[in-house]
Amino acid sequence: MGRRLLVTGGAGFIGANFVLYWLKRHPEDRVVVLDALTYAGNRASLAAAEGDPRFRFVKGDIRDAEAVEALLRAERIDTLVHFAAESHVDRSIHGPDAFIDTNVHGTHALLKAARAVWLAGDGRPHRFHHVSTDEVYGSLGPSDPPFTEGTPYAPNSPYAASKAASDHLVRAYHRTYGLQVTTSNCSNNYGPFQFPEKLIPLALIRILEGREIPVYGDGRQVRDWLYVEDHCRGIEGVLDAGRVGETYNIGGRNEIRNLDLVRALCRLLDARMAADPELRRRFPACPAARGGSAASLIRFVADRPGHDRRYAIDAGKIERELGFVPRQSFDSGIRRTVDWYLANERWWRAVMDGSYRNWLATQYGTDS
Ligand code: NAD
Ligand code: DAU
Repeated sequence: MGRRLLVTGGAGFIGANFVLYWLKRHPEDRVVVLDALTYAGNRASLAAAEGDPRFRFVKGDIRDAEAVEALLRAERIDTLVHFAAESHVDRSIHGPDAFIDTNVHGTHALLKAARAVWLAGDGRPHRFHHVSTDEVYGSLGPSDPPFTEGTPYAPNSPYAASKAASDHLVRAYHRTYGLQVTTSNCSNNYGPFQFPEKLIPLALIRILEGREIPVYGDGRQVRDWLYVEDHCRGIEGVLDAGRVGETYNIGGRNEIRNLDLVRALCRLLDARMAADPELRRRFPACPAARGGSAASLIRFVADRPGHDRRYAIDAGKIERELGFVPRQSFDSGIRRTVDWYLANERWWRAVMDGSYRNWLATQYGTDS
């Protein structure tokens, strides 16, 4: 008999990739998505799952513990994979309240519902998997060793602090009540369906449209990039064989400076445009469509307050215990990502309507 999953935040970037990955890889399983469809949630990202009898979409809020409890019972859920969150650091700096509401209170509401259903009943096997971030560990110096699961928490943004609080609540529900939990802390993801407020899709789309690419501060901050499907594979490993009560760091050993990443993206798009007259026709404002280079769009702008300098993940534990190996290098992953955005202009144009434009306008002026 298959597993019955509840995936919170399944219409967001990583959640949608996870749902599509899981349905493909686990034909026996049922997947129910619970998502409030905030600005970051897009039902269109789940189009490939619609109509599949193993899939159900429920629009709802994780903070509503009663509704979550009813859903867990009605669908006889045995595995909850918790992605739902406010996820963008810049937004957390301008408006931290939503981050506390969703990431802290929302996670607590889910834990309460899971406890009520799974621990008060017949004690059947269950799993609450909490998807978290490497940002809870704070910032590394240039020669510090990468984050391990034992690195002390030192969150620096309201986003990171809210995720740290949620990690602690998940741990406490295991230690105090015996809820069967696992947590994964992952580095920066990229790939299909990522909302264009995050660095890679933001820069990519701005290059296509010939608009400036904002690089914060000196651009020498380092992030550790992982292709989103490899993150999904890591979570699958933890769900299949991870030890209850444990946390696992997931990362790709791909440290790249922001400026180098943006320049690599510029070179990649210059080459794609040069090789393809149809792309030059579709994106006439892209510098390479007019014989220029995308790098001319790079602009250094004011730094993000409290900007973490470097993240790096030591993925040794998940590699040793669960045999985790990322399949995509940064080179192959970024090519797939560029191909996906070029092939899915309708998706990103649709998500850029409305709130996205308004938000960017407050950051960078009406050009955004
Ligand atoms: P996202 O912002 O793209 O998606 C979040 C989803 O959660 C959206 O579909 C949104 O509608 C939903 N949501 C928000 N509030 C909700 C609520 N109250 N009730 C129900 N649904 C709600 O986020 P993402 O980038 O896919 O990140 C998913 C998870 O992974 C987050 O917990 C994030 O902290 C974590 N994470 C992200 C990254 C990354 O690089 N993006 C890396 C490590 C960990
Ligand atoms: O490390 C995991 C985290 O990665 C996740 O927990 C977060 O949910 C996710 O948003 C991401 O956080 P970052 O802040 O690292 O991602 P972002 O894409 O916002 O920024 C990546 C880097 O690029 C960061 O150093 C800030 C910089 N940046 C970002 C934007 C949007 C710029 O220089 N210019 C920009 O316009």
